[in-house]
Amino acid sequence: MTDPRTLPPAADPPAGPTSAPGESLATLLHGYRVHARAPRGVVAALTERPRTLRALVQDSGLPRRSVEEILGALGDDVRTGTGGTFVLRPGAVDRYRTMIDYDELRAGIPLDSLAAAIGRHANLVTTMHELIASAPRPRAELDHVPATAATVVRRAVWLASHYDLRDARLLCVGDHDLTSLAVVLLAAAAAPDPARREPAVTVVDIDEDLLEFLDRSARSRGVRLRCLYADLRFGLPPSVAGSADLAFTDPPYTPQGVSLFAARGAQGLADRERGRVLVAYGYSERVPTLGWKVQRALLDQGLVFEAIWPAFHTYEGAEAVGARADMYVCQPTPATWKQLDRPAAFNETATTEIYTFYGSSAASDVYKRQGPT
Ligand SMILES: C[S@@+](CC[C@H](N)C(=O)[O-])C[C@H]1O[C@@H](n2cnc3c(N)ncnc32)[C@H](O)[C@@H]1O
Repeated sequence: MTDPRTLPPAADPPAGPTSAPGESLATLLHGYRVHARAPRGVVAALTERPRTLRALVQDSGLPRRSVEEILGALGDDVRTGTGGTFVLRPGAVDRYRTMIDYDELRAGIPLDSLAAAIGRHANLVTTMHELIASAPRPRAELDHVPATAATVVRRAVWLASHYDLRDARLLCVGDHDLTSLAVVLLAAAAAPDPARREPAVTVVDIDEDLLEFLDRSARSRGVRLRCLYADLRFGLPPSVAGSADLAFTDPPYTPQGVSLFAARGAQGLADRERGRVLVAYGYSERVPTLGWKVQRALLDQGLVFEAIWPAFHTYEGAEAVGARADMYVCQPTPATWKQLDRPAAFNETATTEIYTFYGSSAASDVYKRQGPT
């Protein structure tokens, strides 16, 4: 097990319980106590229609192993159907709905304040689907795990509603997800006037095929992107340092990777007081130590968490971390600049340790010790 974000899907339901399915599920749900809404949601989803393991993980935000435990607790009441789906026995639907208090669960207020705004941009979600499908294939060695099209649009909508993006300069520190394209396409859709005041978006990435794709896609749609090659382990391109209002990154999920990409984001900021570094990061609730190490790495850089938006990003994969990541809004402090202004700051990070893929990092060690989560 190397990359916690790229576990293969399980083919069959895990071995069934020794006690009766209903009993076993009730015990499992009881153990979740105040956190039982998510596992109840997994069962509710199965009472509605067959679901794949990936869909159950994506919708619940639970780690894959937790979803597998729930499926295991359903025993013979669940079977595998076509397309790798899990199918609940029709005769058992009412019993499980009663057990999970289905009506109370589904009557709950949705927590997603951006859902309506994303719904208004359904065309952009379709466009991003198409772009993601034609983008260069994910490279495991660079820890690529694509975000969903809806997530990429969510990022763009959230940025546009939280910040004044007119004339703003956004730096994407790595961008295999195509967030940059979503941001400029959303701005163009909002203000089709050619004299519009649109955000200037720069992407820095090591993947030249990706940069070429971003450049070509932007041109063919009449929007502007600046795409620059750099290996961030060695630094930012000189023209990018100190140039941006906001930096966004979805980095490799090791403490070293998150720390390095956040530092490059901070180095890209022009205004040391008003600039912000936005970081996507998620960990499995089954391995909180890893989350603590990464958060500590960010805090050690003098970054303060102005906000952490839970379960903001959803991925095609990343099932070990519930296919989700949070959005960290990081504000640099004087401690950040003290570190980054040192001549040797982050100049010697040229190692594969930043990637979960190579399995020699603290993150990978944690996952190796604990197995797939
Ligand atoms: C962890 S991946 C991003 C995850 C994201 N969900 C995706 O699949 O693209 C980090 C991004 O930074 C880029 N990247 C990885 N290593 C890099 C390096 N050493 N220098 C510059 N960019 C790098 C990758 O190509 C990718 O766009």
